Amino acid sequence: MKDYIKHDPWKIIEEGFDPALNRISESLCSLGNGHMGQRGNFEESYSGDCLQGSYLAGVYYPDKTIVGWWKNGYPEYFAKVLNAPNWLGLSLRLNGNEIDLAKAEVIEFRRELDIKRGVLKRRVLLKSGKVLIELNSSRFVSMARPEIAAYRYSLRLIEGDGKLEISSFIDGNIHNEDANYDEYFWEHRGEGVDDDSLAVVLKTRKTDFTVATRTATLISHAGSFLAPENSSSRAGWAGRDYSAELSQGDEITIEKYVSCLTDRDHKADELLSKGKTALAAAVADGFDTLLAEQEEAWNSIWEHSDIAIEGDTAAQQGIRFNIFQLKQTYTGKDERLNIGPKGFTGEKYGGASYWDTEAYCLPFYLGTADPAIARQLLVYRHNHLAKAIENAGKLGFTDGAALYPMVTMNGEECHNEWEITFEEIHRNGAIAFGIYDYIRCTGDKDYLMPLGMEVLTGIARFWAQRVNWSEAKKKYVILGVTGPNEYENNVHNNWYTNYIASWCLRYTAECAEALAAEKPAEYKAMADSLKLDDAELARFRSISEQIYLPFDPERGIALQQDGYLDKEIAPVETLGEKDRPLNQNWSWDRILRSCYIKQADVLQGFFFFEDDFNDEELKRNFDFYEPLTVHESSLSPCVHTILAQSLGYEKKAYEMYLRTSRLDLDDYNNDTEDGCHITSMAGTWMSVVMGFGGLRHREGELYLNPALPSAWKGYSFMVMNGGEPLKVSVGKDGTVLENRGEKAMKVMMGRPGSAGALELAAGENRRV
Ligand code: BGC
Repeated sequence: MKDYIKHDPWKIIEEGFDPALNRISESLCSLGNGHMGQRGNFEESYSGDCLQGSYLAGVYYPDKTIVGWWKNGYPEYFAKVLNAPNWLGLSLRLNGNEIDLAKAEVIEFRRELDIKRGVLKRRVLLKSGKVLIELNSSRFVSMARPEIAAYRYSLRLIEGDGKLEISSFIDGNIHNEDANYDEYFWEHRGEGVDDDSLAVVLKTRKTDFTVATRTATLISHAGSFLAPENSSSRAGWAGRDYSAELSQGDEITIEKYVSCLTDRDHKADELLSKGKTALAAAVADGFDTLLAEQEEAWNSIWEHSDIAIEGDTAAQQGIRFNIFQLKQTYTGKDERLNIGPKGFTGEKYGGASYWDTEAYCLPFYLGTADPAIARQLLVYRHNHLAKAIENAGKLGFTDGAALYPMVTMNGEECHNEWEITFEEIHRNGAIAFGIYDYIRCTGDKDYLMPLGMEVLTGIARFWAQRVNWSEAKKKYVILGVTGPNEYENNVHNNWYTNYIASWCLRYTAECAEALAAEKPAEYKAMADSLKLDDAELARFRSISEQIYLPFDPERGIALQQDGYLDKEIAPVETLGEKDRPLNQNWSWDRILRSCYIKQADVLQGFFFFEDDFNDEELKRNFDFYEPLTVHESSLSPCVHTILAQSLGYEKKAYEMYLRTSRLDLDDYNNDTEDGCHITSMAGTWMSVVMGFGGLRHREGELYLNPALPSAWKGYSFMVMNGGEPLKVSVGKDGTVLENRGEKAMKVMMGRPGSAGALELAAGENRRV
């Protein structure tokens, strides 16, 4: 765990430059706007260790799968999030010496991500040769104009003087570190310079995405703009040179504007002209106007999604950082996109969507955005239904059975490890759970007919074929799976998988029966087109009721899988410091044989289906499994916070909360350098709102059961209730509810099953 980030409620601050931590800081300081993103790389050249990264949402490369032994059913490729042209490009040479923080004497350094406004700033005092220089930079990726980003960079000579040579460029000769065969993923389609701007056009190999990057640079010195001296271009690169004689005290200011357009949004042959128009408008409006727009856009995001925590700056910084990253990753403006686990902060993990979206992110968007955005995330999966049926077909399933991919860009499976692709099938359950969660939160049952039912039917058909009858057990079993705990593979009867499979079958049948009763004619038309009849629904029910759920009667707990108790059971606290994280210190063989659990597995089921279990059952399972859990998936601590809180384990809940909320800021899992864990950030939100706030939704109604962690003086959050914003403020002397909407709303105070209703008029503010 590293804790070099200064605690601050609205800023991520690093003081003093440690090159060994640079990649971590770059990940933390990533900026994005849903359309594109940029890691916190330096603008000026840097020859030290860094992960240069600019990304464009939805632009990917199908990198051919690497495996030793090809097995039928493998995906052909692992979709890589592509490193796109680097538009930051700035080379500064003072008296012939390149200004490069890896070589210069860095005297003072401060990198600051202002999450309130979405602006990354840096101030550096350094010596280049004998000259003392101050650098200041400020940049943003515009939330208001998704295809635009800009930075302002100033250089002042504090002591000494000299000739400054500047080159501002776009570099399309970029590589992915995460490339299976070290290939260059792009084709050059042209580069050029005109009076006002530079442009580079690239096209992805195989996927044929065309991307046009255009920049305009304005450099001012002593009240006037520097005239360019030379412009040049070569394959995938375009640049322009300037120079100035600077005396002690002189300052030059460089403003660089960029437009990044892709043919996902425009015709390929219009990219250059449209990019030019967008860029010219940005330049004409100027940096300060764009910055004001940026502040305004973030202001309105925070108004609907802020969580304020009093009395604990580390916790406050953690949650706001998480909300910031989520909101800049997925804005809901493009229904073809989803929430990749690394967002715009790195290349690793590839793909755009995992089960993380439904299991973790959906509640966040339901809570903090228009319900249409959550619905759109469901429609995304509906759009991929044909591909999910195709995926299942590749594995031998028939008759409309659908297996959603573990990782995808376009609906096709693109993860390349067999134990995940073939076995981690619980993901299919999460897709169905997302539909259920959306409906219980919004009450929008109309989603079921036909979109929801089409997806549910495909998923139920998969489970009905994936089970097999065990003569020995006289039950249906599910063999050869990997559960959420990826630290054991090819296990039989993973309790979580069996439970969610059984639930999917039952839920599908229940929804069908309810729709048949409510809207018989419409239902019949839909059922006919799905070829779904009563016999098939009866089969779903019958399998659901007879699925085997491993159970240990001695301890009274669900068994993670058939063979779990054969393992040597010893709590995580018996492990040494040097063992953790296991995945970086133990052989895979040792991990697989151990009892250690990567992330909530049985407990994920207790989280999803909490109404099916009483507190005693939850307590027995939590007390057994949590001490065996290493939380080496970022998705783990949040679920444990929520469960611990409902058991009244305040200390555990808080420990887990800090771990989830500061996972990247403190680099708990020693992997933030690859990028941030975006999807788990939604889990952090759930930890506060569902964990401490006790938020639940049942039948379209909102429940609250707030508790105040003793380390905090108070906290408040915003949540959508029936499409209207509700502010919940929890303090030592109770909870204040504020209906910030335009309609009256109902709030249930207490846990589902034992809560009392209250009505809040529009604008009403009430202490409860
Ligand atoms: C977790 C998966 C998750 C993936 C992406 C893995 O480490 O085990 O459950 O889907 O990360 O976040």
